[in-house]
Amino acid sequence: MKGIILAGGRGTRLYPNTIAVSKQLLPIYDKPLIYYPLSVLMLANIREILIISTPEDTPNYERLFKDGSRLGLKIDYKVQEKPRGLADAFILGADFIGNDSVCLVLGDNVFYGQSFSFFLSDARKKAEEGGAVIFGYPVANPKEFGVVEFDENNKVISLEEKPENPKSNYAVPGLYFYDNEVVKIAEEIKPSPRGEIEITDINRTYLERDMLNVTLMGRGMAWLDTGSPRGMLKASEFVQTVQDMQGYYISCIEEIAWRMKYISTESLRAIGEELKMTDYGKYLISLSEENK
Ligand code: DAU
Repeated sequence: MKGIILAGGRGTRLYPNTIAVSKQLLPIYDKPLIYYPLSVLMLANIREILIISTPEDTPNYERLFKDGSRLGLKIDYKVQEKPRGLADAFILGADFIGNDSVCLVLGDNVFYGQSFSFFLSDARKKAEEGGAVIFGYPVANPKEFGVVEFDENNKVISLEEKPENPKSNYAVPGLYFYDNEVVKIAEEIKPSPRGEIEITDINRTYLERDMLNVTLMGRGMAWLDTGSPRGMLKASEFVQTVQDMQGYYISCIEEIAWRMKYISTESLRAIGEELKMTDYGKYLISLSEENK
C-alpha cells in the first residue's frame, strides 16, 4: 500500500500565520504539524509516501524530509498548482500509486489514542482486499466536516460534505484507505458547488457500489482540530500535557521508525545527537539507550 499526505491548500483560516509558511509546517507544540499525519502512515506500516503541496511550499517539505531514507522511508513529492480539492490527490498521485492500494491522510489531521495501530492495520487489510475504509468520529460541530449517517444496524445511509442540517454528529476524519479503483473514480468526479473535487463524492461512489466500510472511532480516540489558531493552541497543549505526564512523545517519527525497525539504534542516536540542544533530541538519545 502507498501513502499520500495532502499538505497544500491556502491555510486562509490561519492568516496571517500562513501567508508565508505552509500550515502543515507550523508547530503543534514541539514538532511540525505534518509529523502527525506522517506518523499515521508509518504506524500503518506504509513506507512509500507522496507529499503533495503548493509550488511555493514543496521545496520546504523536501528540505525537511529529503528522500525519507533517514527514517527508512521513500518519500516523493508532487506539486499541486491550485487547491482543486482533496480528490485531486489521486489524480496527481496516479503514477505514484500505480496498481497499488492507497491511504490518504490530510496534512492537518492529528490523531492519538489507544489501539490506533490496530485500527490502522485493520483498515489497511480491508482496503487491500477491495473497497474503501473511512472512519466516523463524534463531534460537537458536524457542519464543518464530511458527515456520515447510519441506520439502527450501523449501516451507512448517507454521506454529505459540510451539510447545513447534519443528519448525525459523526464527522469523517481526514484518513481514507482505498483499493486501486480510487484513481479511476477520482478522474470522473465533477467539481462541487464550491468548485472542489470532493473526497466525499469518492466515498459516495464506494457507498453506491456497496464497497464502503465505515469504522467508528470511540470517545477514547483523540482527533484534534487544527483549523483555527485556537485549535492549534489546544492541540499543542494536549500534546504537551500527554508528553509531560507519560514521558513518551506523540508522533515522534524517529521513534516510530526505530520501533518499526526501519532504522537502527545507531541511526536513532545520530539523529538525537544532531538535535541534542532540544528536549526532542534528548528524548531520541534516551530511547537509544533504552535497551543497553
Ligand atoms: O479534516 C477532515 C475534513 O477534511 C473532512 O471531514 C471533510 O470531509 C473534508 O472535505 C476536509 O474538509 P476541510 O474543509 O477541513 O478541508 P480543507 O479544505 O481544509 O483541506 C484539508 C487539508 O488538505 C488541508 O491541510 C489543506 C489540504 N488541501 C486541501 C485542498 C482543498 C490540499 O493540499 N489541496 C487541496 O486542494
